[in-house]
Amino acid sequence: MKQNLKDKIVFITGASDGIGRATALAFAGEGARLIISSRREDKINKVADEIRNRFKTDVFSFPMDVRNRKEVFEKTASLPDSWKEIDFLINNAGLSRGFDKIYNDNPDGWDEMIDTNIKGLLNVTKAVLPGMVERKRGHIINIGSIAGHEAYPNGAVYCSTKHAVDAITKAMRMDLLGSNVKVSTIDPGMVETNFSNVRFYGDTERAKNVYKGVNPLKAEDIAETIVFCASRPAHVNIAEVVILAGAQASATLVHRNP
Ligand SMILES: NC(=O)c1ccc[n+]([C@@H]2O[C@H](COP(=O)([O-])OP(=O)(O)OC[C@H]3O[C@@H](n4cnc5c(N)ncnc54)[C@H](OP(=O)(O)O)[C@@H]3O)[C@@H](O)[C@H]2O)c1
Repeated sequence: MKQNLKDKIVFITGASDGIGRATALAFAGEGARLIISSRREDKINKVADEIRNRFKTDVFSFPMDVRNRKEVFEKTASLPDSWKEIDFLINNAGLSRGFDKIYNDNPDGWDEMIDTNIKGLLNVTKAVLPGMVERKRGHIINIGSIAGHEAYPNGAVYCSTKHAVDAITKAMRMDLLGSNVKVSTIDPGMVETNFSNVRFYGDTERAKNVYKGVNPLKAEDIAETIVFCASRPAHVNIAEVVILAGAQASATLVHRNP
């Protein structure tokens, strides 16, 4: 039977925008209690207000940079007692910086991607997972990417970070065998969010062109899938979901209407 998500505590990183925000709204629609964070305080608080107004559910929001291990540990340790027993962790915070041949690429972007997508995910996991193991209950859902299944030109480092997410997810599932803590990964293809804008350092024209002539996935499509995975019965774990846009056959093979 479908698991009821009402009053479950769901912690979503990078919830100020895109997939994270849509996922927070989708869980709120199920009556879950939300812990949401991202670096931009004004944006994350706005999402929290939206959830309170639309769904009348409990939300706890705060600014947090997943790259800052000390901050992650301190902020998760100081959650009020009524928020401590996290049922679901959605490791969503992530980004791509730059789109260039490796020999032309900006190494500062490499640091940002590796620190956020790999080390950030590990930081938050380390802060939350021991409690789940102790309580013998929990589910971690990592947001990977089609880029974790195949490499593509101009994306060496982003693809490597998402391959790392894939490896971390698989190894975590092995480490947690018998603990009653589930681990899943949701791996989207082309989703129209602020992602390309961030990748191209705010070049909105270039970002818009990524989706030109295509009907891409929406953040809500991914959110719906995450909630589906979270609400499976206790004996079911959806290990991995790859979701592509209908007009997409691989990371780079996309059919565009003229
Ligand atoms: N869009 C796609 O096509 C696509 C495809 C496959 C996978 N993904 C993955 O989906 C996830 C979400 O991306 P999106 O498409 O929703 O992009 P987005 O609209 O740019 O949202 C990214 C979110 O991550 C947060 N974030 C970035 N760096 C952070 C940090 N250091 N600490 C805390 N939060 C941070 C951002 O908030 P702040 O700026 O406020 O910190 C924002 O809320 C990422 O892991 C991405 O790799 C996206």
